[in-house]
Amino acid sequence: MTAPRIALFAWALLGAAISAAADLSQWPRQSSPFPSDPVEESRLDSIISAMTLRDKAGQVIMGEIQHVSPTDVKRYRLGAVLNGGGSFPGKERHAAVSQWLALADAYHDASVDRDDGRPRIPVIWGTDAVHGANNVFGATLFPHNIGLGAAANPELLRLIGAATAREVAATGIYWNFAPTLAVPRNDRWGRTYEGYSEHPALVAELGAALIEGMQGAVGRDFMAPGKVLATAKHFVGDGGTAGGVDQGNTEASEEELSRIHGAGYRAALRSGAQTVMVSFSSWNGLKMHANPRLLQEALKGRMGFDGFLIGDWDAHSQVPGCTASSCPEAFNAGVDMFMAPKDWKALRRNLLRQVRSGEIPAERLDDAVRRILRVKLRAGLLDAPRPSERPLAPPGEAAAVHRSDWLGHTQHRALARRAVRESLVLLKNERGALPVAPNAKILVAGAAVANIPGQLGGWSMTWQGDDTENADFPNAASILDGLRAAVSEAGGTVEFRRFSEVLRDPAESLPDVALLVFGEKPYAEYEGDVETLEFSPRDKSHLKAARRLQAAGVPVVSVLLTGRPLAVLGEIEASDAFVVAWLPGSEGAGVADVLLADAQGEPRFDFTGRLPFSWPARPDQAVNNVGDDPYQPAFRFGFGLSYERPRPGNSPARSGAR
Ligand code: BGC
Ligand code: BGC
Repeated sequence: MTAPRIALFAWALLGAAISAAADLSQWPRQSSPFPSDPVEESRLDSIISAMTLRDKAGQVIMGEIQHVSPTDVKRYRLGAVLNGGGSFPGKERHAAVSQWLALADAYHDASVDRDDGRPRIPVIWGTDAVHGANNVFGATLFPHNIGLGAAANPELLRLIGAATAREVAATGIYWNFAPTLAVPRNDRWGRTYEGYSEHPALVAELGAALIEGMQGAVGRDFMAPGKVLATAKHFVGDGGTAGGVDQGNTEASEEELSRIHGAGYRAALRSGAQTVMVSFSSWNGLKMHANPRLLQEALKGRMGFDGFLIGDWDAHSQVPGCTASSCPEAFNAGVDMFMAPKDWKALRRNLLRQVRSGEIPAERLDDAVRRILRVKLRAGLLDAPRPSERPLAPPGEAAAVHRSDWLGHTQHRALARRAVRESLVLLKNERGALPVAPNAKILVAGAAVANIPGQLGGWSMTWQGDDTENADFPNAASILDGLRAAVSEAGGTVEFRRFSEVLRDPAESLPDVALLVFGEKPYAEYEGDVETLEFSPRDKSHLKAARRLQAAGVPVVSVLLTGRPLAVLGEIEASDAFVVAWLPGSEGAGVADVLLADAQGEPRFDFTGRLPFSWPARPDQAVNNVGDDPYQPAFRFGFGLSYERPRPGNSPARSGAR
């Protein structure tokens, strides 16, 4: 090629690149709800200009509390720490609020301890309080998001956001990695329950409401005492991976990616989300952590996001060419803060080297630091006292409440119980099986009815929700506790049996009604992925018990605890009434509130929950979403019976989001 031809060719290539990059029309333009503030920005200018390169490198790195000491925070000037799921101060799962607070104070004090005249920048601690302050002993645990999607009540989400924030803030933590805005489209995914719905509009509405409750509303009570920062996660397409594989690949057009998986982010940014967590997953083969087009140009550019992007747990290590301790690609693609639980030290060293060599442009580092400091400034953290000295709630409201009393506070527990009531979805109710008269002779079967870890699901004290027992959750009630309380008041009886023990003795007298409770065992990300939607493939004792009862003419009420829609048509067939209770959390008594009648036999509360996910007819029907063609669910999106509308024909379809 001649020189002019080469120049022309290069020019054409550049032109093509620019126009491809410029076509971001799938990501509607919007702007930050925070008006740009010259006073704030000039304060940031002066802080940043006084920071050393080493200060800046530390600011963009987050390590995990088991691997970062307060001395490390001071020495390396780390910007953030986190505690992962199942990680507690001193590795003590029953750590008291005072122990959390003492550790938060120690990190804070270390971060501002310097006398060389350079800026003192408080460290920020992030945690996963994804259904209440679920790492903290004694916390109120709300239904997982799938249940809140069934309740579909933004006002409820606002209250839950506020209550969760207070319990998190009580421990001295400033930042929560919630809400998950995934729009799970394949129910095999083990994080299905972390999403509110398969319907993007419902995810957007509920996610925005939770954020408002958690952080306070912009221009009103944003980051007032007792509020914590929220995180919109995981950007973007985490719920769309092929086969429902966790951290997998989402194959979709940009239009679909934005319309379905991006919906929650538009709403979250409008309600003031300041941090966005980048997804482990890929979009059309490219890891999100290496996608400057979506991170820099779409999110920070077109969508006006002026907060910061936090990477997910070592997720940068999955970018081709990267390791846990080195990934200039992710940083250059727009990740502002690395979540590097164990390898933060080596990562920091490499990052310093990469900035010095120009592999990471100095302006990119400054931009990331500015974003992190902007969030710390807006959130009041730059000027906040040490954690134990921060007020918790507006004066008046909190006056009589000690910090530790916020954990499992009676108001919060009442709210969680209400959330359980609102989340229950009634799929069938024949022969007047429900409501159950509280003065009846009730047979209750299934170990799940008395097992609190089972009703909590994953992200509950431990990461996967396994390896715990009822005693780990002091401020909680099992479903059986709730039934017993209501029945004993009304003069009925409750007898508990294992499934295998149901109607084994032909001489025994029959109960008036049987209540069967069964469900999935707890799981979380990755480990919760399944091959099919068949419920309990290896153990059908619940089904056999239901059939024995049915054959004996005993009305059967089944309650399913689950983090995803499951193929249970056999179970529904063998039941007179069937209720989906999702993963209700610590207030199992909310189930009895709706299932048991009052003394006059009238319902105390009606069912108001509606399916937030289309319900499968077969175990292989994992991709089953409203709007699909053909659309052949067993129960459509939005389905839900009530006492007032007992027949399917009378149940109003929920066509849009609600
Ligand atoms: C999860 C995130 C979580 C993070 C910190 C990751 O594995 O994907 O949702 O916030 O861990 O625990
Ligand atoms: C942590 C979680 C984290 C996960 C990532 C676990 O050890 O406790 O918080 O999400 O690792 O794989």
